[in-house]
Amino acid sequence: MKEDFFTYQAQTTPHPLAMEISHADGSYIYDTNNKAYLDFVAGVSACSLGHKHPRVVNAIKAQLDKYLHVMVYGEYVQKTAVEFTKLLASQLPNPLEKTYLTNSGTEAIEGAMKLAKRVTGRSELIAAKHAYHGNTQGAMSIMGFEERKSAFRPLLPAINFIEFNNEADLAKITTKTAGVILETIQGGAGFIEPKNDYLKKVKQRCEEVGALLILDEIQPGFGRTGKLFGFQNYNSVPDIVVMGKGMGGGMPVGAFTASAELMDSLQDQPKLGHITTFGGHPVIAAACLATLREITESDLMPKTLEKEKLFRSLLHHKYIDEIRGKGLMLSLIMKNSAIANRIILGCQEEGLILFWLLFEPKAVRITPPLTISSAEIRQGCAIIMKVLNTIED
Ligand SMILES: Cc1ncc(COP(=O)(O)O)c(C=O)c1O
Repeated sequence: MKEDFFTYQAQTTPHPLAMEISHADGSYIYDTNNKAYLDFVAGVSACSLGHKHPRVVNAIKAQLDKYLHVMVYGEYVQKTAVEFTKLLASQLPNPLEKTYLTNSGTEAIEGAMKLAKRVTGRSELIAAKHAYHGNTQGAMSIMGFEERKSAFRPLLPAINFIEFNNEADLAKITTKTAGVILETIQGGAGFIEPKNDYLKKVKQRCEEVGALLILDEIQPGFGRTGKLFGFQNYNSVPDIVVMGKGMGGGMPVGAFTASAELMDSLQDQPKLGHITTFGGHPVIAAACLATLREITESDLMPKTLEKEKLFRSLLHHKYIDEIRGKGLMLSLIMKNSAIANRIILGCQEEGLILFWLLFEPKAVRITPPLTISSAEIRQGCAIIMKVLNTIED
């Protein structure tokens, strides 16, 4: 199987982890030798309710028995998508009300970028240094890491960058700016939180010049930081919120939400200005609905903050410089990248899944399912400490 994986499936790096998966359940993934791995990564923040959550699986099965794809996005009234977008609207602050469903996070970013241009009639988009918003060419254009994108130029013109949390840079947002797009918590950069009401100040500057604020909640969203969306922790409401990953409970999805007034502009001039075949797929929407119901009807969201405290209390070591992030979006910043690599690979051998961040080589990702138990957190942290203690100076 592994040989065929390397022969027939395109790779994204020369050295993928290549663990052979048998099945997954709750907080555990099992390999084909039936070795259990405690999952502190959750498919890179995607499996918000752990693996094969019964509520999600049952919702998918119920929809499978009714219908699969029947029509391109936006033409027919399909119950699971309608119920999901309605429930989502009830959970969002005004005026965020109308949602466009896509197949992935990066497509939702593309839609949000287009919406900002369409609404303002302007072309400039401003993003942050070290930002990650996806890998299609529009999303890559706003990626703040030249080394990873220069091979794919030319990308979109009229993209400018500011430094996250740098208030002096807000002067770069002008009447030429269609939209400012930021991750609420910078992910790939090392889980950097906004400080000193930064997002509120960005929003104020956007309002002054008539630009839209787009917040990328694809990673912090869906309960991971103690609120449904990260921005709800930081006194700011964006004009467009973009989501994905955890919203599908393990199924592929993305979405962007805005006021009805903004979103309705996509219907006309030009007509069909943003279209997709599979966006809003009824089976995926069923998974999203079940996931959102579970997250909002349970105590999972407030519990993420208690779980964060537990992680922080258990992980102290001379090789850990800092623990960044909020809730269950945490990263260990190690003394150096060699130690980060040793921890990730060493823990995998010991049956604990950890992972890297995109642009911060000293970081170790801890983004477990929101459903992880205290006992599982203790078990995983004990493995991290054990592996750390094997590393010599
Ligand atoms: C903040 C952020 N934006 C956008 C994306 C892209 O989402 P997708 O991989 O579903 O296209 C990701 C994925 O890692 C992300 O973390």
